[in-house]
Formats: sequence, structure tokens, C-alpha cells
Amino acid sequence: MAAYELIDHEYDVVVVGAGGSGLRAALGAAQQGLKVACVTKVFPTRSHTVAAQGGISASLGNMGEDSWQWHMYDTVKGSDWLGDQDAIEYLVRNAPQAVYELEHWGVPFSRTDEGKIYQRAFGGMTRNFGEGPVQRTCAAADRTGHAILHTLYGQSVRREVKFFIEYFALDLIMQDGACTGVTALQLDTGQLHQFRAKMVVLATGGYGRAYFSATSAHTCTGDGNAMVLRAGLPLQDMEFVQFHPTGIYGAGCLITEGARGEGGYLTNSEGERFMERYAPTVKDLAPRDMVSRSMTIEIREGRGVGPNKDHIFLHLDHLDPKILHARLPGISESAKIFAGVDVTKEPIPVLPTVHYNMGGIPTNYHGEVLTLRDGNPDSVVPGLMAVGEAACVSVHGANRLGSNSLTDLVVFGRAVGLRCGEVVDKASAVPSASKAQTDEHLARLDRFRNASGSTPTAHLRLEMQRAMQADAAVFRTGKTLDEGVQKLRSIDAAGSDIKTTDRGLIWNTDLVETLEYDNLIAQALVTIEGAANRTESRGAHAREDYPDRDDVNWMKHTLAWKRPGEGVQIDYRPVHKYTMTDEVSYIEPKARVY
Ligand code: FUM
Repeated sequence: MAAYELIDHEYDVVVVGAGGSGLRAALGAAQQGLKVACVTKVFPTRSHTVAAQGGISASLGNMGEDSWQWHMYDTVKGSDWLGDQDAIEYLVRNAPQAVYELEHWGVPFSRTDEGKIYQRAFGGMTRNFGEGPVQRTCAAADRTGHAILHTLYGQSVRREVKFFIEYFALDLIMQDGACTGVTALQLDTGQLHQFRAKMVVLATGGYGRAYFSATSAHTCTGDGNAMVLRAGLPLQDMEFVQFHPTGIYGAGCLITEGARGEGGYLTNSEGERFMERYAPTVKDLAPRDMVSRSMTIEIREGRGVGPNKDHIFLHLDHLDPKILHARLPGISESAKIFAGVDVTKEPIPVLPTVHYNMGGIPTNYHGEVLTLRDGNPDSVVPGLMAVGEAACVSVHGANRLGSNSLTDLVVFGRAVGLRCGEVVDKASAVPSASKAQTDEHLARLDRFRNASGSTPTAHLRLEMQRAMQADAAVFRTGKTLDEGVQKLRSIDAAGSDIKTTDRGLIWNTDLVETLEYDNLIAQALVTIEGAANRTESRGAHAREDYPDRDDVNWMKHTLAWKRPGEGVQIDYRPVHKYTMTDEVSYIEPKARVY
């Protein structure tokens, strides 16, 4: 292997990722007086949170009565009872405070006539335990994530978080079961770095790019999840992949659920508002898993629109153009650019598109990563936390409700900051790094940098994305999943013949894409193997051969391990059947109808 030098850094806390959760965690840790670094592969305000459109849920009650208990009920039901109710209670109780904090830091929320934060309806958000839609989603037009991200970046700079921008994180430095840092490649210079820390926080987002068509940015490769797998730790509930009902047909770009929250509706080729048949109470504002399935059924049964009858129409053309201009300007522009549609006059062609990963790194509601292998369900990995889409707390269970993601980012980002204040000792020495460990990280980098096989990374990536799109789709069967497992295992094995051409280190996108592909394929495998094993339908995991939810055998979280060169190992852990406080009781499972 070539000789590589590591530039050494030491911090109390190193956050990897500068999206909403990473910035909120970094800011929170800095507020605790800790020395904080944030290592990020893209400029912070280009992180994928920038693409979050419709809003952030919190029971502020600005548009009518609301309560955190109703929000909790909706989130538990939305999760199809796979969510842990102690964590869900923490999320919904802390949501209003987290939103007010954002407001005070400068997020330019849209306003009601009285000057309060404007809230819109979103899928699965209801009043009085399911009676009908409630307006709970706080919005900054349809650019809420953009507004939050810019505000949090400004606040983090103000708090003197030190940013390492365009640094690609390689691996976790683990010693005796504890995390003591992370290695990274500086993209513009090719220099290598080790960040030693008392706490590493993974805020690296989801892995939507394991699929062919996703609303996620091309940067969403789940780098932190893959680092956790390589460190011998499990990922949780990876089989639960959310399809957003309204990706633009062909392009995959997001059209916010807020469009339906403002009164938009879906139609089939007969002009029928078909959601009235599938979810009579909330109709187009049913949760995403249900709307995506309903659209897929309409298309399969020959009622899709377009020359190939392979998509659905989303109508906004009946809405007042002034409302569209004020509340949905971003998607009006996206529809024009990517579908050639003037939303004031024509419907938008849409199709369910991969959007979010419910699964991720298992944590408690303080953000501490769980070991889950020594018989103690609460034992944590010292020095390691995870937050945001990378984490699985689990508040979203088998299906996330729209607008609960931004809430998750800031509520648990804040929780991580608070926990760092409790457990990170400012006075103690920063741990040293094991050379044997960092040498392994560099050997992996060197192997890919000099890979001289015959299969380009782009070929393997496309094969993986096609297999995931075809075989781990909205509807699944044992047959398609088993085929998918076989395909992905052979694609993974073909990695031994991978070929890169750029042998340099400066802006080596060939190398970075290969490292990202290596991260993605491990996550694709644990996703599809977890899905093949789960013989029931729950939330976003819809098995046609097992159409019912099975609470007797499957009220449990999947745990999956996969080390490089090894197969996937699967185990399970029980769902928490308890709440955080005595102020609310465990919500018993029942049929999930809307
Ligand atoms: O539809 C949307 O605006 C997306 C929101 C979300 O995923 O929470």
C-alpha cells in the first residue's frame, strides 16, 4: 500500500454530516461549552435537508385545536405499531419547543393573518385520534428544509462549530468496543485526516441512492450506516423503505405532500378521485405507504394515465393561483422545469418514488447508539451517537408520517446536544487512535484507489439500483425478494473485480463514487435480506404473499449485521411496549384504517 500520512485533530465532539440533524446536534453540543467539529462531504447548506419541502410537524394548535397526545397517536398508528412509544412520546412532546426555538433563531415561517406560524394538513395527521385531518405541519412556503438548514448553519457558525467542508468520512475508529474517532479524506487536496473525539455523532442521512429512482440527492449514500456495519454493529429495520406518492413521473423530483395538504388531489385515467375508495375519512391525506399502494393498484389494474397508463395525475389546477404562488412556489417551478406543466392549468404526472429510510442505526432517544448484542437492550456504544435519517430511534417504525422527519432532526439533534453536555467530560483527555485501525481504513481506500479489475463502479451501481427498484418495491413477494437477494449477493461478489481509473487523490470522484457504492451495496443487502425474512405486511413493507400484519410473530425490530466479505446476519429485538412517562398509556395495536 502507498504511504499515507494522517493529519491529526482532537475535539470533544465530532459530528459527521451537516444536514438538519447534524447542525442541530453540533449547535447543541457547542451550547454545552464543548469543542465541536462538523465534518461534511458537501457544503452544509447543500445537505439534503435543503430539499425538504412541506414542513415540520408540531402540535402548536395555531389553526385549530391540537395536542401532543393526538400527534403521538397518529405517529404510533402511522408507524403501524413498530415505533417505540417511549421515543414517540419524547418526539411529540418536544416538537413545539423545537419549532419555537427555530423561529427564534430566524426561520422565516409562513404566517397566519394573526402573525402565528402557518400550519398545513399532511398525510396521517389527524384531530381527536383519527376523526379527520388536522393542520399540524409548520411551513415556510414549500421550502421549509431550506429555511431551517440555512438558519441552523448560521447559528452553528455563531457558536464556533469548526467546519471541515468537503471531507468524505471513511470509517469509525473503534477500540475495545468504544468509538474514539473517525477518519476522513479531504476532497480538494487528497489529504487524509483522523479526528479523535470523546463523542462521534453520525448524522449522515439516508441511502435512497441504493434505488434507481429516488427523491434523495445523489449524495444520499448512507455513509454512516455503512461505517457502522463495518464496525461490527447492527442496523435496524432496514426493510422499511418509504415511497413518496408524488415524485415527478420520469424525473423523480419531489412534489410535496403539502400540495395535497393545500387541497390537491390525485386522479386516475377515468378522472376518478380514487383515494376516496381506499381511505374514506382522510382520502388524499392518507399516510404515504397507503397512497403509494393505492396508486400502484390503480396503475396495475389499468387505470394509470398517459400513453403507457403508467402514472397518476396530481391536480392543483382548481386552486387559487395566489395560494399556489404564496404556499407552493417551489413545486410550481419544479413541475414546469421537470414535467413541462403549468400547475395552474394542468395536472402533474406523478409516481411513487423512493424517499426515506425508516431503518438505520439503532439508538435510544438521547441519540446514543445501542450495542444490542450483549443481552442488555439498553447498553450503549461508548463514544458513538447517531441522529436524523441515519438513526432508527425508532419513532417512525414501519412508515414515517410526512413532516415528522424535520421534527425528528431537530428534536433528536437537540437531545444529542443535551446528552453530550451530560456525558462528555470537558476536562478528560481525548482518546488516542489505534494505528492498526486507521491502517485498515487506509488499506480500504488504497484498494479502491488502485482497483484494476474489469467492472466499472457505475456498472455495479446501476445493477444494484435496478435490482432494488424491481425487487424491493412498493409491493413485494417472497419470489421477488428471493430473486433480489440472489442478484444483490452476486453484484456484491462482483465487487472483487471492480475497476477505477483515476489513481490520484485530488478531487478523485471515481474513488469517492466507489467508496459510496461500497457503502450502498452493504445497505442494499441488509435491506432486501431483512425484507425477505419478514413474512408479514406492516407499513411500507407490503408482502402480497403475507398481506396481513402479524403482531404475534412480528411485533419486533429487525437487526442486521454485515461485515465486508461476510454474509448478512439477522436477529430481532422486541418493540418497546411502554411510554416515556405515566402521563400517557401504551397505545394498543388495532386495525390501521383511515
Ligand atoms: O412531501 C414533503 O414535503 C416531504 C416531507 C417529508 O418527507 O417529511
